[in-house]
Amino acid sequence: MMIRPLKAKDLPSVLSVASSAFEEEARRPEVIGPGFLDSLSRRPDLQIGAFEGEELIGFLIGDEGEDWGLVNWIAVSPDQQKKGVGTALINEFEERVRARGKRRVRLGTPFARGFYERLGYKCVGTQYVLWKKLVGGTVKADPAFDIDLEGIVDLLEDYEMDSVRCAFNPGCLMVGREGVGVALAMENRWSKEQVDVLFSKYGSTGSHFLLLDQVEARARARGAYSVTERFEEGEVPIARQRGWSDRATPLSWTTYYMEKSL
Ligand SMILES: CC(C)(COP(=O)(O)OP(=O)(O)OC[C@H]1O[C@@H](n2cnc3c(N)ncnc32)[C@H](O)[C@@H]1OP(=O)(O)O)[C@@H](O)C(=O)NCCC(=O)NCCS
Repeated sequence: MMIRPLKAKDLPSVLSVASSAFEEEARRPEVIGPGFLDSLSRRPDLQIGAFEGEELIGFLIGDEGEDWGLVNWIAVSPDQQKKGVGTALINEFEERVRARGKRRVRLGTPFARGFYERLGYKCVGTQYVLWKKLVGGTVKADPAFDIDLEGIVDLLEDYEMDSVRCAFNPGCLMVGREGVGVALAMENRWSKEQVDVLFSKYGSTGSHFLLLDQVEARARARGAYSVTERFEEGEVPIARQRGWSDRATPLSWTTYYMEKSL
């Protein structure tokens, strides 16, 4: 096995490894392709591939910040996994990051936390995205939570308005009530079966769940199968009691932020 920097002509091989290795949307050519080309033009030396002869068997697409290197994507061909290729790519990346005078490597991962822990990475934060099945639920939509853009504007601060972009999409689902808060949800980018809450503002955990009940009732009425939301860590046990689960799917997942000092 040999590791070398990737070139633009490696694009088809990168797409092919990605489509067979990733669970999440990075397996899609329209996500990984432009991502790879952007990274290659910005930081060519942080894009590396592992080759067996002429064949690409794994790649790492990286970036850097102030004093850290960032692993955006890493993947190894399924038939070459668990043979040390991923470890070799991370080692080479760390070497390159160190050579650039950076002192840490950071990344976020949904499915490979254990892989990074074995390499000395520590989890420094978690973005909980929990999933709930709508089918079987019985909460009814309460018209008191019907809200239009004018109503939303009244409940938000100026600086929060940027989060309301999705309201202009015809599929946007909005709920809100004075004294409770606002939630905006959208059909998932890849599947009509799922509705994702993209923005929510609430004063208390109780209010959060009142809003979610209303999102659920309306999403179910549209025929969606499931709903997702981001939760603060303290809310997670309550969410679990209320039927939200940690289930990671190709459409939504909890992200573990990992870090290692070099
Ligand atoms: C994660 C991935 C890059 C690891 O590459 P790899 O070449 O299989 O890794 P290695 O062979 O170097 O494995 C090193 C160790 O991590 C373990 N490991 C590998 N993948 C793992 C995972 N997803 N979860 C937990 N442990 C994992 C291996 O079993 C091995 O343990 P060992 O030393 O006790 O045998 C590869 O499995 C992959 O492409 N997965 C799909 C895409 C993905 O999840 N990418 C990461 C998202 S950021």
